[in-house]
Amino acid sequence: MIKFLNLGLQPLANSYLKKKKLSIKEKKFKLEIAFDKKNYLVSIVNTVPKEKMFNNTYPYKSSESKTMQKSFKDLTAKIKKYFKPKFIIEIGSNDGVFLKNFHKKLVVGVEPCDNLAKLTRIKNYITYSEYWSLKLAKKITKNKKADLIYSANTLSHIKNLNEIFVAINFSLSDNGVLILEDPSLLKCIENVAYDQFYCEHIYVFSTIALKNILDKHDLEIFDIHNTTTHGGSNRYYIKKKTNNMYKIKDSVKNEIKKELKFGLHKITTYKKFSKKVKKSKKKLINIFQKLKKKKLKIIGYGATAKSCTVLNYCKIGNNFIDYFYDTTSYKVNKYLPGSKILIKKYKKLNKKNTDVAFLGAWNFKDEIFKKEKNFIKDGGKFIMHVPNPRLIG
Ligand code: TYD
Repeated sequence: MIKFLNLGLQPLANSYLKKKKLSIKEKKFKLEIAFDKKNYLVSIVNTVPKEKMFNNTYPYKSSESKTMQKSFKDLTAKIKKYFKPKFIIEIGSNDGVFLKNFHKKLVVGVEPCDNLAKLTRIKNYITYSEYWSLKLAKKITKNKKADLIYSANTLSHIKNLNEIFVAINFSLSDNGVLILEDPSLLKCIENVAYDQFYCEHIYVFSTIALKNILDKHDLEIFDIHNTTTHGGSNRYYIKKKTNNMYKIKDSVKNEIKKELKFGLHKITTYKKFSKKVKKSKKKLINIFQKLKKKKLKIIGYGATAKSCTVLNYCKIGNNFIDYFYDTTSYKVNKYLPGSKILIKKYKKLNKKNTDVAFLGAWNFKDEIFKKEKNFIKDGGKFIMHVPNPRLIG
């Protein structure tokens, strides 16, 4: 593994602090990113034990955003039309944003964060609050194998990928389909979106890296759709190599071609990226300094895990941002890890008390700009750091 980026010491990205905990020293972890020349995997170097990150206080809920709700709803319509599954397993079912679109008898959720698993269990969806494993796969598929396994923004959080795919291979029927969805490394590198890296994102996958892992498990990608979620993701349609029901589409060849053309198989690409990240940091700090000199009122919008990486790497705290707004009730009245900026209950932005908002949830720019159109009309601005730090509005 060759290290190519050092994002400094970082706290756990989703560990929002209560006021009474503010004076306690937070545990911090070295956030370094590396490239493995052998299998093209890009991963963080020091991983944090999963139990520290995914437990019964996990704050992130997929249903918070209309964009995500729509993305999952559209996908389920396609799944029903093309694959007509009779038994679905979702790995990382979060608050049920995907599985609620199916009948309770058709789908089983796996969600180790019990606070989230409870939300679907209460609606009578079978949900296991366990980490995905072969043991669990055997339990779930004791009577029948799954003809569809879906997992979005979850596999990138799991260290031991081999174990994951052994369990997937075991539970998938011979003609079954596995759909995986995760942020695209190509988009991440193209957009200098270095905040895709934080403790939970052990991997950011490229197609060429995923293909190598799948090969080992006799699985292959037969279609890829690029989606706009999480700043640019790939939705991979995967089957067993022995399954001849699906032809391999040109989208697979084309995506690999794009990645190789961009150089995702070469360390030089990642070194260039690293230089761009350093420039991005300088530029972002510069923007904040200029705005502060003008005595403008700056707040943060969307207290994301991604913001945690940016704020701590660029040392942005209350020196620049007064507070954050966020719609997630669990985050409200807590403080962002590391930067210790207060998170307030979301209110529509108003130019009377805010001049500029740092867009922590930049991946929801369109949804947010629609909501805040009056603020923008009145001259309010946003700081957006992807693909390069700038003021927009
Ligand atoms: P997100 O970018 O999905 O994830 P991550 O934490 O993995 O980086 O998080 C979006 C956050 O932004 C979430 O806390 C909800 C918040 N949010 C708002 O406050 N307002 C909005 O309009 C939207 C879309 C999100």
